[in-house]
Amino acid sequence: MSPFLPSYDRGATVAGVVGVGRLITGMDRGLQGMCVNERRHLIVPPHLGYGSIGVAGMIPPDATLYFDVIMLDIWNKEDKLQITTLHKPERCNRTVENSDFVRYHYNGTLLDGTHFDSSYSKDSTYDTYVGTGWLIKGMDEGLLGMCAGEKRRIIIPPFLAYGEKGYGTVIPPQASLVFDVLLVDLHNPKDGISLEHLEVPASCKRKAVTGDFVRYHYNGTLMDGMLFDSSYSRNHTYDTYIGKGYVIPGMDQGLQGVCVGEKRRIIVPPHLGYGENGAGNKIPGSAVLIFDIHVIDFHNPLDSVEIETLSRPEGCNVTTQERDFVRYHYNCSLLDGTKLFSSHDYNHPQEATLGTSKVIDGLNTGLLNMCVGEKRVIIIPPHLGHGENGARGVPGSAVLRFEVELLSREEGVPEGYLFIWHGDPPANLYEDMDLNKDGEIPPEEFSTFIKAQLTEGKGRLMPSSDPETVIADMFQNQDRNQDGKITAEELKLKSDEDQERIHEEL
Ligand SMILES: *[C@@H]1O[C@H](CO)[C@@H](O)[C@H](O)[C@H]1NC(C)=O
Ligand SMILES: *[C@@H]1O[C@H](CO)[C@@H](O)[C@H](O)[C@H]1NC(C)=O
Ligand SMILES: *[C@@H]1O[C@H](CO)[C@@H](O)[C@H](O)[C@H]1NC(C)=O
Ligand SMILES: *[C@@H]1O[C@H](CO)[C@@H](O)[C@H](O)[C@H]1NC(C)=O
Ligand SMILES: *[C@@H]1O[C@H](CO)[C@@H](O)[C@H](O)[C@H]1NC(C)=O
Ligand SMILES: *[C@@H]1O[C@H](CO)[C@@H](O)[C@H](O)[C@H]1NC(C)=O
Repeated sequence: MSPFLPSYDRGATVAGVVGVGRLITGMDRGLQGMCVNERRHLIVPPHLGYGSIGVAGMIPPDATLYFDVIMLDIWNKEDKLQITTLHKPERCNRTVENSDFVRYHYNGTLLDGTHFDSSYSKDSTYDTYVGTGWLIKGMDEGLLGMCAGEKRRIIIPPFLAYGEKGYGTVIPPQASLVFDVLLVDLHNPKDGISLEHLEVPASCKRKAVTGDFVRYHYNGTLMDGMLFDSSYSRNHTYDTYIGKGYVIPGMDQGLQGVCVGEKRRIIVPPHLGYGENGAGNKIPGSAVLIFDIHVIDFHNPLDSVEIETLSRPEGCNVTTQERDFVRYHYNCSLLDGTKLFSSHDYNHPQEATLGTSKVIDGLNTGLLNMCVGEKRVIIIPPHLGHGENGARGVPGSAVLRFEVELLSREEGVPEGYLFIWHGDPPANLYEDMDLNKDGEIPPEEFSTFIKAQLTEGKGRLMPSSDPETVIADMFQNQDRNQDGKITAEELKLKSDEDQERIHEEL
C-alpha cells in the first residue's frame, strides 16, 4: 500500500517506518515529532515528494502534495512494555508470579483511545494462568509483580501483542495496545491455606484438633474486600466438627489448633474452597476466600467436666456427696465472657439436693467433693449441660463456665428416704410416738415426735428448705388409708418395707 493514499477512503490505516528512507522525504520529515492523536497538514514540494517524474497515472511530474495526517500509533522495535502503577494497596503480601492463576478486570484500548475490549462487558473477571502462554506475551509479562487490588496501565507494543496480523476486526495490524488492569485475585494451584494469627489469647491451655466441635463467628470476604457471608448476619455462630469433611477442606485445615477466644485469618485457595465453579451468586469460580474467624468455644464429645479450685478453706475435711443439700452462689457465662445467669440476680442463693437431676449433670459433678466456703470454676461441655438445643438464653452446643461458691451443706439421706435413724430405731416405735397414749397418732403428734428425734440427734430429715413439708410427706406415707391418723398396723419403717418388697419379689 502506498503511504500517500487517502487512507480514510480506504477504511484502513497506514503503517510505515519513519526516517529510514521507506517514505518520501517530505513525509519522513513531516511526521517527525508527532504525538498520537496529533493532526497535521503537510505540504510537500515536488523535490521532497515524487520530483519531476511523479507516479504514472496518479501523480503528475513536479506536483506539490498535500497531506492531512492523524497519528494513531507509534512504536519502535526497541520498545519495551510500559507499565504504570495507577494504584497500589497498602497491604501487598503477595505478587503475581509465573504459573499463578489470576482473576482481573481490564479495559483494552488502542493507543489513540479506541476501545476494543473490556472484561466488564462480560460481567465477570478475566481468569487465566500467567506465564504459560495463554496470554499475549505483553500481558504475561505485564501482570508479573502485581498484587491483589493493584491497578496498572500496561502499554504493549504490537510485537508483544497481536503483531502484523492484528486480531479479528477489533485490533488492526501493528497496533500497540493499552490495558488498564485491576488485579482482583491471585493464587497458585500449589498453594495450601495460609494463616494469620490476629489475636491469640495469652492463656491457651488447649488447641482444637480433629473431632472437636467448634463454635465460631466469621466474616468471609473475597480478595477485593467484598463480603460474601458472615455469621453475624444470622446472629448465630457457625457450629461444626473439624477435620471431618463437614466444611470446605480449607476451613477444616484452618480451624486446626485454634484456641478459645482466638481471632484468626484463614486464606483459602479455590481448590480448597469452592473450586472453579464457585458457590451461589456471591462466590465466583476460582475465587480465593478470606475468613476472619473468632472462636467462641470448642469441646470434644468425650470431654468431661473441668474443675478448677480457686480457693479452699484451711482444714476442710468434710466435702459434699451425692444426696447432700447444698446452697451456693454462682455466675454462669459463655466462654467468650457473655454473662448468662447468676444467683445474685435473686434474693437468695441457689439450693439443690445433689444427685437428683435438679441441676445439669455437669454442675452436679462440679459441686461434688467441695468444701463449704470453697470457690471453683467449672467448665461444662454441652453434652453435660444443655445439649445441642441449648435452653432459654443458652445457645445450642455451648460450653458453659460456672463460677461457684459453696455456702452450706447438709448431709442428705439415701434415695427414697425422707428421714433416717442414726442408730437403731426405738424398739417400741409406735408406743414412743403415741405421746398421749390414745392409740392413734395425728399429724401434730407425729411432727412433735420427729422434731424431738432431730433435736436429740437420733436421726435426720431429708434436708430441704422446708422441713415441715418433709414431715408432712412422711405422715402421708404412713397414713396408708389417708384417714388423718396413723395406726399401729399402718406404721412401718422404710427399711422393713424395702425388705418386705424384696421378699415379695423373691
Ligand atoms: C501479610 O502481611 C501481614 C502484615 O501486613 C503479616 O502479618 C502476615 O503474616 C503476612 N502474611 C503472609 C502470608 O505473608
Ligand atoms: C474500565 O472502564 C470503566 C468505565 O469507564 C471503569 O469504571 C473501570 O474502572 C475501568 N477499569 C479499569 C481496570 O481501569
Ligand atoms: C440479629 O440481632 C439484631 C439485634 O438484636 C436484630 O436487629 C436482627 O434482626 C437480628 N438478625 C437476625 C437475622 O435474626
Ligand atoms: C466481622 O465484621 C464485623 C463488622 O465489620 C466486625 O465487627 C467483627 O469484629 C468482624 N469479625 C471478625 C471475626 O473479624
Ligand atoms: C477436721 O478433722 C479434725 C480431726 O481430724 C478436727 O479436729 C477438725 O475440727 C475438723 N475440721 C472440720 C472443719 O471439720
Ligand atoms: C459472681 O459475680 C458477683 C458480682 O458480679 C461477684 O460478687 C461474685 O463473687 C461472683 N462469683 C460468685 C461465685 O458468686
